[in-house]
Amino acid sequence: MSYPQRRMRRLRTTSAMRRLVAETRLSVDDLVAPLFVREGIDEPQPIVSLPGVVQHTRESLRKEVRELVGLGIPAVILFGVPATKDAEGSQAWDPDGIVQVALKDLRDDVGDEIVLMADLCLDEYTDHGHCGLLTDTGEVDNDPTIERYGWAGVAQAEAGADVCAPSGMMDGQVMAIRDALDEEGHEAVSILAYAAKYASALYGPFRDAVDVSIADGGDRKAYQQDYRNGREALEEIRADLAEGADMVMVKPALAYLDLIARARAEVDVPLAAYHVSGEYSMIKAAAANGWIDGDAVALEHLTAIKRAGADLILTYLAREVAEALG
Ligand code: PBG
Repeated sequence: MSYPQRRMRRLRTTSAMRRLVAETRLSVDDLVAPLFVREGIDEPQPIVSLPGVVQHTRESLRKEVRELVGLGIPAVILFGVPATKDAEGSQAWDPDGIVQVALKDLRDDVGDEIVLMADLCLDEYTDHGHCGLLTDTGEVDNDPTIERYGWAGVAQAEAGADVCAPSGMMDGQVMAIRDALDEEGHEAVSILAYAAKYASALYGPFRDAVDVSIADGGDRKAYQQDYRNGREALEEIRADLAEGADMVMVKPALAYLDLIARARAEVDVPLAAYHVSGEYSMIKAAAANGWIDGDAVALEHLTAIKRAGADLILTYLAREVAEALG
């Protein structure tokens, strides 16, 4: 007897056959490595909740990025941890701020061999931990904040960034940064908008990595998206494209594969997904307990994100996956 379902089984018989018919291929070219650089330290500092990830010194960052170039990783995204924070987060646009000096180092070292992205936000730099300036009553003040984002974008571009990646979820942030960049002659610098960014509990380890705690036990629910809502992710993406974003992102990744798929169907620009700190840490913690095979789950997760429609994946797994993919 012959029935058509046998086709499925026949095409799964050997590893070579499975490779031949695979629809989705995860490649080193898909990966963006997030890296932390901290001002005023002599040795890289481990981040307990992100095993295997460190806060780099300027020197250790240079070495890491040279090695990532050697592994064929096409891009890194930098996050800064300043030695001093203030109410406005002024280190974000200071030419001597930690991300700006690190970008200059890397530009000198690696030239155009890797795309240098800079996360653009104020939360790492403000003493209250919010992504923008606060009003007298403690709300995030949108318009003065996006003006500062423009200054930060120019400082990053001047230091050598190829891509500014605004992650603050302020209204009008992409346009403010695009205008500021163009006014200063940085038309060639791209914007990767964290367009659909949810107020997620999965960012916990990241906040350890950048030494951020939000004042008064606060949260970001007044500006990041509510995870009960899907449609507004598409609204956010359309708005950012209308403001001039070159690439858009969905963040986090795995709990939002529906939105990655919807965004993929609707827009034709490069689509990024951020496999965030909590997603990474869950794999590491379960693997450390011997409960899952961490390497296998890592590949399964990243491949699923690509299958859903992402073109690029920001992931703390970038280095180990690049090594594994050879
Ligand atoms: C904000 C920012 C955050 C992350 C990237 N950019 C944290 C937040 O919005 O609270 C989280 C990334 C991660 O969890 O890996 N600058």
